[in-house]
Amino acid sequence: MNVAYKDLREWLAHVEETGELRRAKGIGLEEDVGRIAELSASIDQGPALLMHEFSGYQKGHGLLLNPFGTTRMIAFTFGFPPETDRLNLLRHFNNRIEKIDLLPPRFVDSGPILENVATGDEVDLSKFPVPKWHKDDGGPYIGTGCLVITRDPDSGCVNAAPYRSQLHDKKTVGFYSLPGHHGRAHRDKYFDRGEPCPVAMIFGSDPLLFTGGMAELPYGVCEFDWVGGWRGEPVEVIKGQVTGLPIPAAAEIAIEGFSYPGKTRYEGPFGEFTGYYASGAHDEPFVEVEAVYHRNDPILLGIPPMKPPYDADKGRQYLQSAILMQQLTKQGIRGITSAWCFGLGGCRLLVVVGIDQQSFGHSRQVGHAAYTSTVANMGGKVVIVVDDDIDVTDLNDVMWAVLTRSDPATSIDIVPRAATWALDPRLSPEDRTARRFFNSRAIIDATKPYEWRDQFPKPVRTDIAYRRETERLFGHLFRLDSRPGK
Ligand SMILES: Cc1cc2nc3c(=O)[nH]c(=O)nc-3n(C[C@H](O)[C@H](O)[C@H](O)COP(=O)(O)O)c2cc1C
Repeated sequence: MNVAYKDLREWLAHVEETGELRRAKGIGLEEDVGRIAELSASIDQGPALLMHEFSGYQKGHGLLLNPFGTTRMIAFTFGFPPETDRLNLLRHFNNRIEKIDLLPPRFVDSGPILENVATGDEVDLSKFPVPKWHKDDGGPYIGTGCLVITRDPDSGCVNAAPYRSQLHDKKTVGFYSLPGHHGRAHRDKYFDRGEPCPVAMIFGSDPLLFTGGMAELPYGVCEFDWVGGWRGEPVEVIKGQVTGLPIPAAAEIAIEGFSYPGKTRYEGPFGEFTGYYASGAHDEPFVEVEAVYHRNDPILLGIPPMKPPYDADKGRQYLQSAILMQQLTKQGIRGITSAWCFGLGGCRLLVVVGIDQQSFGHSRQVGHAAYTSTVANMGGKVVIVVDDDIDVTDLNDVMWAVLTRSDPATSIDIVPRAATWALDPRLSPEDRTARRFFNSRAIIDATKPYEWRDQFPKPVRTDIAYRRETERLFGHLFRLDSRPGK
């Protein structure tokens, strides 16, 4: 395990060398970047795309899309060997996550982020090429592949997570953080005391740092410590001169400022991770930017949410799955063999757990525990429990188990009044208006019934390891673009 790059620039150099980076220039920000992002999400195993030379902007300013486009790029990002097999890669994640020791960031006095500094009247975010990501968005969003950095005013604990950030004007950035999210909890604490909330944001980092922000970690665990632990090397940060918040020293673009209680601007709508404009547009707090930092020729990281699975889901599904597996096993539940948070459910709406059945009621216990995990608790919809001969990462396999091993009358538990949020497109207009954020969950037990599992008809097909080996040996026979030995 070796994360072999220090920052986004080194990451790009590697993927360019392996042929997984394409370049383009002169693309339109109003519509074309967004439609290209949508196209890239629909392509399996597509390259990352680095764009430059946007009309009206400095030539060197860049925008990166699709950094999780191939399984090999994901493996490289997390420090694993160039892996192309989903299950093998998932195994690396499951093993690695068990060994993480949190490592706090290291404060440094300088770093590439300080190559360009603007404060006060010099602050001008309109100099960065920022696209409108989806046709009906309320404006350009500078923060998609971003981290919003806040501090708990009581404990001092720092949080860093991606929350969509609308570029309102050259000194003002929106800050839409959902209830339950940790940055939102920090902001609420300041606002409840009538105090401004200090905020820093970065809009471009290496994909590992970004993924740390996306990980559903428990409250109080700082994402920088977690990423440092994953790397085995602390994240280097500078101390923001306005807020004192830690800002990654190798980030591409960063801002600092304050969000004030009672001060809001109309935010949204913005294409969301469910594939809808569900939460709409409303008045939301924003950040009054007091300082901007950026590297020379900065590269904005673009990870716009859209109908899943989109780019972030492709990488995040491994991490969320490993977190789910870890949470279930840490509860002392035996017999968990695999877990998968499908990217097509935004890594939370559809969660599958594989088990080696241990006892009466085991499969139900696992299903209910999975729905309460941090990855699926908020806004989740369906949890499926399957036997360990099912490949949890393969939707065909999972649905085969549902269709042949479950009996709808007895295999589905419905949990009413579970937690959801404004992003849920199925909230009725009445519930949305009344802010009744409940949904229900289906927990589908698609395992062979425990008491007669030994008499369950024998499957025709072979086990997972055998099938994978067959694919390795003979898969090329059925790929149109390959010849034996290729
Ligand atoms: C591209 C992207 C955009 C996101 N946008 C938002 C958002 O606008 N608001 C929000 O609350 N969460 C958003 N999320 C989800 C959170 O970043 C994610 O759930 C994170 O783990 C929350 O961390 P926290 O619990 O430390 O706040 C987004 C995630 C991604 C990957």
